[in-house]
Amino acid sequence: MLPLSPSDLDEAAAVFGDHRVMMYIDGGTRDRATTARSLEANQRCWKSEGWGLWAIRDATSGAFLGQGGLQRATEIIGATVEFGLILSRRNWGKGVAAEVGNAVLHDTWNRYTGSEIHAIVHPDNPAGAAVLPKLGFRRQEDDLIRGETQQVWQTQRLG
Ligand SMILES: CC(C)(COP(=O)(O)OP(=O)(O)OC[C@H]1O[C@@H](n2cnc3c(N)ncnc32)[C@H](O)[C@@H]1OP(=O)(O)O)[C@@H](O)C(=O)NCCC(=O)NCCS
Repeated sequence: MLPLSPSDLDEAAAVFGDHRVMMYIDGGTRDRATTARSLEANQRCWKSEGWGLWAIRDATSGAFLGQGGLQRATEIIGATVEFGLILSRRNWGKGVAAEVGNAVLHDTWNRYTGSEIHAIVHPDNPAGAAVLPKLGFRRQEDDLIRGETQQVWQTQRLG
C-alpha cells in the first residue's frame, strides 16, 4: 500500500463519484475537483502527521480497490482522529473490508501516537456497522452529526 496521493486521482474520482458507494459518507459523492483537493489534503496530512489515508490496491494486479485509514475528526465530539474505509462497488461482499481494515489499523497504531480512534456509521449502512466490530471497534452513544443521528464507534490502543 502507498499513501493516497494526487497520482490516484482518476481511480479515486471514479469511486468517490459513485452514488451507491458514497450515499452514507460525509456529503455524498465528490466531483473531480473536490476529490483532487482531498487527495492533496491527505498528502499534506501524511507529511505533517506521519499518518493518513492509504490507497488500497490489489497486490497482484495493482487495481485500485479504494481508500482506508485515518483523518482528523472534525465532527465527533471528543474525538481526535476518524478511521474510514471506502471500497469500490465491485469489491464489496468479498471480505476485503475486514482483511484490509485490520491491516490498515494495525499499521495505524504504529504511526498514530494517540490512544483512541473513532469512526462514524450512518444508521442505514449495515455493511459499515458489520465491519467495524471485526476491526475491534465498539459502538458508543449515537451523536447528531451533519443533522442526522449517526452511530459513533471507538477503538482503543491495547496495553
Ligand atoms: C463498508 C464496506 C467497506 C464493507 O466492505 P465489504 O468488503 O463488502 O465488507 P466485507 O465483505 O468484509 O463484509 C463485512 C461484513 O459486512 C456484512 N455486510 C456487507 N454488506 C452488507 C449489507 N448490505 N447488509 C448487511 N451486512 C452487510 C458482511 O456480511 C460481513 O459480515 P459477515 O462476515 O459477518 O457476513 C463497503 O461496503 C463500502 O466501501 N461501503 C461504502 C463506504 C462505507 O460505507 N464505509 C463505512 C464507513 S467506515
